[in-house]
Amino acid sequence: MAIYAWFFQKEDEMKNTLWDIYARCYESLEVFLPYQQLMEDVMHALPNDYEPRVLLDAACGTGQLLKRLQGRLWGWKLVGLDRSLPMLKVAQQKLSESGLVLKHMDLNEEIPYDNDTFDVVTCINALYALESPEETLREFARILKPGGLLILVNPYLPRGTWIWANHISQIISRRSWRDAAQTALHMPKLLAISTVNKIIARHAKDKVFHFLPPIHLCSLVRKAGFEIELETHHNYAGTCCLVRAHKPLEE
Ligand SMILES: C[S@@+](CC[C@H](N)C(=O)[O-])C[C@H]1O[C@@H](n2cnc3c(N)ncnc32)[C@H](O)[C@@H]1O
Repeated sequence: MAIYAWFFQKEDEMKNTLWDIYARCYESLEVFLPYQQLMEDVMHALPNDYEPRVLLDAACGTGQLLKRLQGRLWGWKLVGLDRSLPMLKVAQQKLSESGLVLKHMDLNEEIPYDNDTFDVVTCINALYALESPEETLREFARILKPGGLLILVNPYLPRGTWIWANHISQIISRRSWRDAAQTALHMPKLLAISTVNKIIARHAKDKVFHFLPPIHLCSLVRKAGFEIELETHHNYAGTCCLVRAHKPLEE
């Protein structure tokens, strides 16, 4: 029997509680070196010319990616959406309002944007939490312009210890007292995040969350109508797969 059934009536209640706990701790991930690396991997997967674009960060959380985008990509229009109000509240407090729209929205429903609206859609570590990743990918294909880019990160291995081992080994190899001190300072929140991640990983076995093997994720992305340009498996200390794909141009 799934653990959530002991405490919650419905899967949804459990998920909302987990995101609300995340919201109180999630900012601490900024001191976590594998997470910093993951965000850099996503930034590298984005177009690097000077053309301004319209980007949707689907399930933007506390806006870690949007913050980096605001700092580096001038003139882009950014939309962040998330189902957790507490997450969005943190995002709102730290992001500049200029060129940004934050929306409270559930990705399990139709995304309230017209066809061909966005140049880029990012969805980082959130597809696994949705009811039907397949349907949401089709929605991403619908709201992207022809030629538009999808950048996805999704876990495939529930190995929190690998991520911690990677963080600690980077601190040791860099001999970084600053990173060690930051880790100690944020330890209670980092441990809370790890506990939530453990619960998520436990429920992935019951298919409440979708930890998809890279081959399965890529097949869903193709089925939704995308052409894959890049796929890597080493992300987030070898626990996540990153896919960059585009919606084909119309003939
Ligand atoms: C692990 S966090 C990732 C946040 C952010 N993308 C990042 O990489 O830092 C997962 C996010 O997915 C959001 N989420 C989960 N289910 C959702 C849904 N059905 N609709 C919209 N957002 C959802 C949660 O509220 C949470 O902010």
